[in-house]
Amino acid sequence: MNENLKRYIELIPKAELHVHIEGTFEPELMFEIAQRNNISLKYNSVEELRDAYKFNNLQDFLDIYYSAANVLLYEQDFYDLTMAYLRKAHADNVIHTEIFFDPQTHTERGVSFDTVINGITNALKDAKTEFGISSKLIMCFLRHLSEQSAMETLKLALPHKDKIVAVGLDSSEKGNPPSKFFNVFNQAREEGFFVVAHAGEEGPAEYVWEAIDLLEAERIDHGVSSVDDPDLMEELRDREIPLTVCPLSNLKLKVVENLKDIPVKIFLEKGILVTLNSDDPSYFGGYVNDNYLQTAEALNLSRNDIYTMAKNSFLASFITENERSIFIEKLREFENSFV
Ligand code: ADE
Ligand code: ZN
Repeated sequence: MNENLKRYIELIPKAELHVHIEGTFEPELMFEIAQRNNISLKYNSVEELRDAYKFNNLQDFLDIYYSAANVLLYEQDFYDLTMAYLRKAHADNVIHTEIFFDPQTHTERGVSFDTVINGITNALKDAKTEFGISSKLIMCFLRHLSEQSAMETLKLALPHKDKIVAVGLDSSEKGNPPSKFFNVFNQAREEGFFVVAHAGEEGPAEYVWEAIDLLEAERIDHGVSSVDDPDLMEELRDREIPLTVCPLSNLKLKVVENLKDIPVKIFLEKGILVTLNSDDPSYFGGYVNDNYLQTAEALNLSRNDIYTMAKNSFLASFITENERSIFIEKLREFENSFV
């Protein structure tokens, strides 16, 4: 790619809106934490572990992702995990990030909700001071578990309402439609949380309809299968419901065969608020800038396309209007001074 566009992508201020904190767990840190917690890993080395990162579908990945999370036991572990991601995000000129965490992955194995959230939020606070990075936290329910389990998790979150901006839905999509979680999302909205949901990653466009109409999701995570349904595309544009697309994730999990097949250009042309994100960067071979760079290369994106998606990332963020105008002003200043 043209050196100038590469630098533009690397330097442009952006928000990341779709990243699972458990998916930022780098093998080096995993081994370090496993050792200090006296837990043995199935793999003998970082290289052996990385070698296992060959996935045929979402479930292949989730099996490794959940088993890796077993080494996280203490507040310090969640702090270190979060801090490591924030350092990488800052290096990519992410100035605002909205991070998913999966409490059930930890509470199901006896780690308390408080341990998880305190470790994460202490890192968010320190990174704000150290790097000036702004952040929000989104609690995801695991869709392969029951709605009852999600409801219990929502109750655990209520004393921490001030630290969680939204609820989301992740894990194995096929066979676990958004409608399964109708009641818990209703309850979450009543409690004042914003709502997002993974939909249309491996699942059909129908799941995106369910997410926006039944769960009233204000943002759709992935949503790439929306491209199969012209009426849905119009709906997303008219209702200004953003999509958090994760190209390297879609490639590594074989949602698409080639990055050229990611419908980012189609969404842009349609006027849908599409954004680019990393999903689980330590497993999928790249953080947010790698996603921008490789997508730009594959789809021949223009500088204007990149600007639009960076701007979309702020338009789609769960921040105050005042914060939004500050971020967009930073983006304009960057645009005007970039040579
Ligand atoms: N959890 C972590 N990454 C995920 C993904 N890409 N889809 C669904 N659940 C996830
Ligand atoms: Zn995701």
